[in-house]
Amino acid sequence: SSKIYKEPFRPQFHFSPEKKWMNDPNGLVFHKGIYHLFYQYYPDDIVWGPMHWGHATSTDLIHWKNKKIALYPDKLGFIFSGSAVVDYTNSSGLGTKENPPLIAIFTYHNMEAEKAGKTNYQTQGLAYSLDNGENWKKYSNNPIIKNEILKDFRDPKVFWNDDEQLWNMVLVAGDRAQFYTSQNLIDWNFASEFGKNLGAHGGVWECPDIFKLKVARSNEEKWVLLISINPGAPHGGSGTQYFIGDYDGKSFRTNQQDIKWVDNGADNYAGITYNNAPENKRIFIGWMSNWSYARNTPTKNWRSAMTLARELSLEKINDQYLLRSTPVEQFKKQSTLAFAKDKIILEADSKKTFEYSHLNQSEIRLKIKNENLKLVFSNDRTDSLVLNYDAKQKIFSIDRRNSGLVNFEKSFGAKIHQTKTPYLTTETIDFQIILDWSSIEVFLNGGVYSFTEQIFPNEPYNKLILSSDRNQEISSMSIKKIKG
Ligand code: FRU
Repeated sequence: SSKIYKEPFRPQFHFSPEKKWMNDPNGLVFHKGIYHLFYQYYPDDIVWGPMHWGHATSTDLIHWKNKKIALYPDKLGFIFSGSAVVDYTNSSGLGTKENPPLIAIFTYHNMEAEKAGKTNYQTQGLAYSLDNGENWKKYSNNPIIKNEILKDFRDPKVFWNDDEQLWNMVLVAGDRAQFYTSQNLIDWNFASEFGKNLGAHGGVWECPDIFKLKVARSNEEKWVLLISINPGAPHGGSGTQYFIGDYDGKSFRTNQQDIKWVDNGADNYAGITYNNAPENKRIFIGWMSNWSYARNTPTKNWRSAMTLARELSLEKINDQYLLRSTPVEQFKKQSTLAFAKDKIILEADSKKTFEYSHLNQSEIRLKIKNENLKLVFSNDRTDSLVLNYDAKQKIFSIDRRNSGLVNFEKSFGAKIHQTKTPYLTTETIDFQIILDWSSIEVFLNGGVYSFTEQIFPNEPYNKLILSSDRNQEISSMSIKKIKG
């Protein structure tokens, strides 16, 4: 967002590190009016390496202030993904009641042990801050959870379970989730395991999260378990699935039979939610990349960005629980209207072209008849990004094969990404499309479906062409410019 962020492809309103490599968001916690964003960070290169926790803060989830590195690797290993809580009652004894500590719980990845052929090289460690996240100290008795034999054992998400009056943790072990409980954040008891014969298992499970949400327009409450998986996502590589069920602080149960994805695009991975967000909101941030090509994307001084912060909610449509995600409220204040029109008639096989030079820093909204619509973003360099909604077959697709630079990795532009959208059952469909320099985020019907993808156009798109092979009617359309 600041003035120096002007390199090609540099996101203007998504978080990206000032320089070097970033992956997963970590330690999302709201404390004293500030949203903390920690992240997997390698300060010496633009590819993955010995992991640190980078740090940024925000008061509005849009503008971020870069902070110094929070956690450095030590003799127990690299600092992998994890979470952070405010220990209000000083249950850990690491602070005082007057000055409750911030506690980060993360995975230690011991490279030496891995090289020596051991399997148990991932353990869980703890660090704390007594000055609101500025400076961090590792706990003297790390690791707090040891590992006997497991090969993949990581990414602890810790939170205060108010119903049970206990600290809870979910982490992943191979392709299972494990639940733990604690009174003091230091001593943890294993409670149960989840995942056998349920969900997608095309790769290891990573970065779990679990939280309770109210089902819209009812008094029902359900628990949502997020599980990132790599590989094994619908469009290849990395993706995040979710399960809806019940949880008693010890074990999670679900009747869900099908596999559901938080986002149906190729680039939303390892996303987790904030602890302690105001008004009980459930706010999610994901890493806007995919391990299939993350290390090859065509940027020079930094690599990758986070998704917009999104608010999650639960819907019930046709007797199915669905996780909905929509950009946080604060995002609305970021835009100024550039164009608006009501009632645009698109006769079958006709086209309408809208020229706007700031498309790669814009939000486009359309309310359309639940009928076929094709949207093409293009520029004078023959790049084109194609979105297609097939109302009859209920398929939404993103075709980035000619969207700009795609040849840096074979899988990036290999195919059209198609998604079945059976829950778009309304008479009109609401499109919200948000484009930054190197990303597109699409939210259909308020995020009943969301799609996040990276794009690297040779220059910003300046045309949007709408067409349909049916008689289509757009009851309203707007283009807004997003401030950096
Ligand atoms: C997910 C992940 C995590 C791990 C981290 C390492 O992208 O593989 O499981 O903790 O990245 O950087």
